[in-house]
Order: sequence, then structure tokens, then C-alpha cells
Amino acid sequence: MKYKINQNIVLIGFMGAGKTCIGRRLARRLKLPFEDTDSFIEKKEQCSIRQIFETHGEEYFRDLETELLLELKKSNQLRILSTGGGLPMREQNRLLLREIGHVVYLQAYKDTIIQRLAGDTSRPLLQGEELAIKVDKLLAIRAPFYEATAHTIISTDGKTIDEVTQIIIDRMISGEEVENENLSSERTQSEFPWN
Ligand code: S3P
Repeated sequence: MKYKINQNIVLIGFMGAGKTCIGRRLARRLKLPFEDTDSFIEKKEQCSIRQIFETHGEEYFRDLETELLLELKKSNQLRILSTGGGLPMREQNRLLLREIGHVVYLQAYKDTIIQRLAGDTSRPLLQGEELAIKVDKLLAIRAPFYEATAHTIISTDGKTIDEVTQIIIDRMISGEEVENENLSSERTQSEFPWN
């Protein structure tokens, strides 16, 4: 079935929530380009996110994120945009994200995130301290900001990439806004490795 979307879809959420996997699948289904804020920044700076953090620090990286959103706001290209997990923490960025497109928050439980990110060395904010403690702390701080930014909220736990992709398409087509699926600790873990 062919679907036509008339606005950008912007995916937000914690590291490991599946933004890249789902973004790519969504882009393929909708025949739109897939882009990712981290990749844009790495290309512009000619080095990895990890190196940017090491060399210039987090604030420098956050400024690059804001600069990029300002650029994307000017663009007429329709796209699926995946965003770095910390990007919605700035108020200016939250406003820009909502101006750029329909913002979808991909929600995932702490345990799902920890499982997906185990062994990851590319994300500077998760190095050092024990992963579970780090995720727990950051997620508690960030979840309200993700919720406040999103037009639509989708729980990804226990769902396949295809299922989440279809839910996003259905919501875009029905024009439903801010659907926050009830979170329950009873829900099963996602049965597919996404990363
Ligand atoms: C970050 C998330 C990363 C990347 C950087 C910082 C964060 O992106 O932007 O390591 O602060 O949560 P992903 O969410 O795509 O992993």
C-alpha cells in the first residue's frame, strides 16, 4: 500500500530506543530520505561523536545540534529525521523540533534500553559508571522532556520494528495526536535485537 505523508517525521527518544532502525524502515516504507542528526554532525565535523565530546566537550556538541536544527528548519526537503537522545533537553531545540515536523517519541523501558546498549562504546555519556545506573538517572531526567516535545508517543517494548513503523504510519494518516500508551511493568521485552 502506498502512503503519502506531507510533513517531516522527527523521531526522538533515549539512546537505544530504536530511532535509527525505525527511522530507516519508515523512510523505506514512505520512500523518503532518512537522516540522522548525529550523522549530519559527524560529517560536518569530520569526526565521531565520541571524538567531538572528547575534544570539545558536551556543550560544543549541543551547540552543533541547535545549529543543525536551525538549518533543517529552513529546508523544504521532506524527510524522516532521527535525533540524538539528548537533543530535546534544550528548550530552543524542543520548539525547533516541533516546527520541523511531526515529533514521535519512541518510548522504551529502562531494561530494554540497557539490554540494547550493553557493550556500546560509541556513546560518551554512557561510558564509565555502570550502564544501568547511568540509564536510570538520565532516563528519569529526560522522559518528561521527551513527553513534552512529542506530538505522538509510542511504546516500543515488545514490538517489532515493522509493528512500530506501521503504528507511526497509521497515526500520521489518522492525524491522531499525543497517544501515550499505558506503561505497565508487565509488558514483555522487545523480542528483536534492534541495534
Ligand atoms: C546522546 C545520544 C546519542 C548522541 C550522543 C549523545 C545523548 O545519540 O547524540 O552520544 O545525550 O543521549 P543516540 O540517541 O542516537 O544514541
